[in-house]
Amino acid sequence: MKIASIVGARPNFIKLAPLSKELRRRGFDEVIIHTGQHYNYEMDKIFFDDLGIPAPDYHMGIGSGSHGLQTGEMLKKSEEVLVAEKPDLVIVFGDTNSTLAGSLAAAKLHIKSAHVEAGLRSFDRSMPEEINRVIVDHCSDLLFCPTTTAVDNLRKEGIIKGVHLTGDVMVDAQRECESIARKRSHILDDLDLKPKGYYLATVHRASNTDEPNKLRGIAEALKSLGNVVFPCHPRTEKYLKEYRLWDDLVRKIRVIKPVGYLDMLLLEKNAAKIITDSGGVQKEAYLLGTACITLRGETEWVETVEDGWNMLVGPDTDKIVTMARCFVPGHKRHDAFGKGDASIKMADLIELIAASS
Ligand code: UD1
Ligand code: UDP
Repeated sequence: MKIASIVGARPNFIKLAPLSKELRRRGFDEVIIHTGQHYNYEMDKIFFDDLGIPAPDYHMGIGSGSHGLQTGEMLKKSEEVLVAEKPDLVIVFGDTNSTLAGSLAAAKLHIKSAHVEAGLRSFDRSMPEEINRVIVDHCSDLLFCPTTTAVDNLRKEGIIKGVHLTGDVMVDAQRECESIARKRSHILDDLDLKPKGYYLATVHRASNTDEPNKLRGIAEALKSLGNVVFPCHPRTEKYLKEYRLWDDLVRKIRVIKPVGYLDMLLLEKNAAKIITDSGGVQKEAYLLGTACITLRGETEWVETVEDGWNMLVGPDTDKIVTMARCFVPGHKRHDAFGKGDASIKMADLIELIAASS
């Protein structure tokens, strides 16, 4: 069976790593197709290096653009590659524009497709990723759900066939890389950080970056806290500069380039608290036992809030500062995201399909 994995953005690469490894271990013929949505070294290649992902077989080089332009170009090029490669199964990951383009290209060519991280919902249709998830789930033949909440979300939309509770591949990635990170990463020494002695922040959601007042509210909070390490997404850097918030921020907190996955795991594990609007970072905070303050009004990862490890505060300056200082996390965490064997379960299901076709 030939498999085409389509990726393009930072969180896609992290989800690809453990599944690609497991599929290749079992002898599947996998081609990796990179749309080029993310392209800076620290948003792209560093993840292939850190996670040992094989170099892409195809690189579309699409880059940045408006949603329609970017997704349209990716759809066109994905179709060309899929026509040439004729895979039996296309795999897409998460909720990015690369995910949507890959999924649509497969559906229109009548190629079976699998969605890794199916069934997540924020119930906010103004969020570009929510549109992507809904469409991809409705186009997929195999839906690999990280949580029971995700399975329920799909059932409520009438999607039952092909739905499997596999757990979350990001647990697999994290388990595999934690000890490697401890050996290889020097980020704490490089930045002169003491364990639990700093806040870690990431911000990149369009709802926060594209609104000057919201980004200002967040920047003010980070400046008030002071002791913040902020690996800054290029989108956020662009808007911080445009809104003239950048110069003062870099004077008051540690704004650094986005870091690789191994450095990020260590920064997350050792932070006093994490302040973020990232989906993946909220979940990693929970898995690593670091309390999280989320710069959004809702989350797809409801289990992190229910267990008392994640507080939703939005972009409000006072709430961010108060919660960063005072929020006391819950006592218990459970296996809401699986036990780190999601890629094995996914590969088992793909093997079953291969055997029956
Ligand atoms: C995308 C995903 C989002 C994911 C995020 C991960 C969509 C709709 N959104 O958002 O779900 O959480 O990736 O990081 O797909 N840029 C660079 N260099 C790069 C990449 C981006 O400079 O390597 C800048 C460009 O100015 C670009 C902007 O960042 O216009 C946004 O990039 P884009 O890939 O469109 O969306 P993200 O905000 O990264
Ligand atoms: N990440 C990273 N370096 C950074 C910021 C994030 O390695 O500077 C990792 C993070 O550990 C997580 C993933 O990127 O595994 C989350 O991706 P992102 O926040 O870009 O997107 P989202 O999860 O919100 O879609």
